[in-house]
Amino acid sequence: MSAPGRSQALNPGARSAQGRPTPGRFISFEGIDGAGKSTHIAALQGWLRARGHDVLLTREPGGSPLAEQLRELVLHRPMDALSETLLIFAARRDHLQTCIEPALARGAIVLCDRFTDATFAYQGAGRGFDLHVLQQLETWVQQGRQPDLTLWFDLPPAQAAERRAAVRAPDRFERQDLDFFTRVRDGYAQRMQQAPQRFARLDASTDRDGVWAQIEQALEQRPWW
Ligand code: TMP
Repeated sequence: MSAPGRSQALNPGARSAQGRPTPGRFISFEGIDGAGKSTHIAALQGWLRARGHDVLLTREPGGSPLAEQLRELVLHRPMDALSETLLIFAARRDHLQTCIEPALARGAIVLCDRFTDATFAYQGAGRGFDLHVLQQLETWVQQGRQPDLTLWFDLPPAQAAERRAAVRAPDRFERQDLDFFTRVRDGYAQRMQQAPQRFARLDASTDRDGVWAQIEQALEQRPWW
């Protein structure tokens, strides 16, 4: 696998000319289940660490001890959409306060497997949960914090279902039908429309090298590297 092209310049976590640590960077990874995020997140983490970067690899729901406990409930216990949404935001609050914000403050690169776009896509578009309530919760919980870059692994739901079936037993979300995942995909598209500078849409139907090349390109296009 090749390295990001222009990325010798990748340097968050370094010190500025004034000696202050430069702010960290927050990159989230999104997509319907089976889109192939995990392989690439791990590859990017390895690539960044090999070049001396301080990297936090984390995930949602989860990432902190408390949030991981909430993840277990959300993924495996039956509950309605309101309970699910509140638990996800409670987990996010703890994860932000105890992991993400401290890592960004020390100048680390945070790679987060899913963040709030997933809530808008799964609970909002997928389950039909009120988007205004989600916006309110987003404001309360995140206090303005958003990823600097969101890599959206986009894949037709039928293709994602084939990939999932080949590798693992499904959780509560993965058992949903194609219509659900079509709505989730539409939900991601809407979030991208609302924040086009933050998002990079990747065609995840290509092979591994093809997806990695698109990640390189998305990183190169960010003015902050
Ligand atoms: P994962 O398998 O990618 O770790 O994600 C766990 C599941 O949680 C996945 O099916 C999507 C779902 N999810 C939501 O429904 N809402 C959210 O806000 C997040 C972060 C994940």
